[in-house]
Amino acid sequence: DLAGRVQERDVVILDGGVGTSVVVHLHGATALSWKCDGKEILFLSKKAVLDNSKAIRGGIPLVFPQFGPWTCGPQHGFARNKRWSVESQPQKADGTVTCSLALSDDEDTRKIWNYRFKLVYTLELTKSSLSTRLTVDNTGSEGFTFTTLMHSYFLTPDIATTTVRGLKGLNYVDKVKNGQELQEDRDKVTIPQNYDRVYQKCPSTVSMECSSHTVSVNLSNFTDVVVWNPWSEKARAMSDFGDEEYSTMVCVEAGRVSCPVQIAAGQQLAFQQTLQVQAKL
Ligand code: BG6
Repeated sequence: DLAGRVQERDVVILDGGVGTSVVVHLHGATALSWKCDGKEILFLSKKAVLDNSKAIRGGIPLVFPQFGPWTCGPQHGFARNKRWSVESQPQKADGTVTCSLALSDDEDTRKIWNYRFKLVYTLELTKSSLSTRLTVDNTGSEGFTFTTLMHSYFLTPDIATTTVRGLKGLNYVDKVKNGQELQEDRDKVTIPQNYDRVYQKCPSTVSMECSSHTVSVNLSNFTDVVVWNPWSEKARAMSDFGDEEYSTMVCVEAGRVSCPVQIAAGQQLAFQQTLQVQAKL
């Protein structure tokens, strides 16, 4: 429950009615909560720092312009650590609530990464789906490259019975095994330990299945899917993650990370994921 954890001025709420809502924190444009028919779909750590001082541990943080460690700045880039502005307030039409946030380069971003850009992040909430679209606009006079990712944390009743589907036959880089390249041979990928894998050349839909529901992740212009769970030892080492919380979450992250994206001056590129919930009967 977010009550008492966030300040009203820090969040935007998309209210779809009948137990359907999304709460987005302006810090990083991080979706903190998505309730679908009264049920919370996203994991947010009880220890997540929500005072604008740190990237938020949970929900859907946005990674831009760098996935992973970075010589120029913080791990996973700066977008998740910047305050975004509201480009267009939530609006409801035909059962869909839409809202956009924006982030442009400023003195701080140019100090570590000297490019001009505008990001627009649009969320679209329906009765059973949440689409998030990131548009990258190169507003400068030279091209640049970047990697990007939607770092979705999904809530699950029990990681032991949670699977990720749609990855069979794909090559992946196992970051837990020194970046070894391997091939997935399972239809239902289980997560029994510390997992950090970058699956490449993904199909347009992968899904997370747990005992209560399935969330399908539809990718548009995303080619990679990262499956991450820190497991117990790494969880204990993180100050903003509860020791036992690894058993109630899994990250299934849609990205363009294995090969940097090139964008020319004046060009605009869009990346979108659509999450769809199906409850189990
Ligand atoms: C995942 C990476 O996307 O994010 C992991 O693949 C990383 O390597 C994880 O540990 C969490 O990163 P952070 O910076 O939020 O602790």
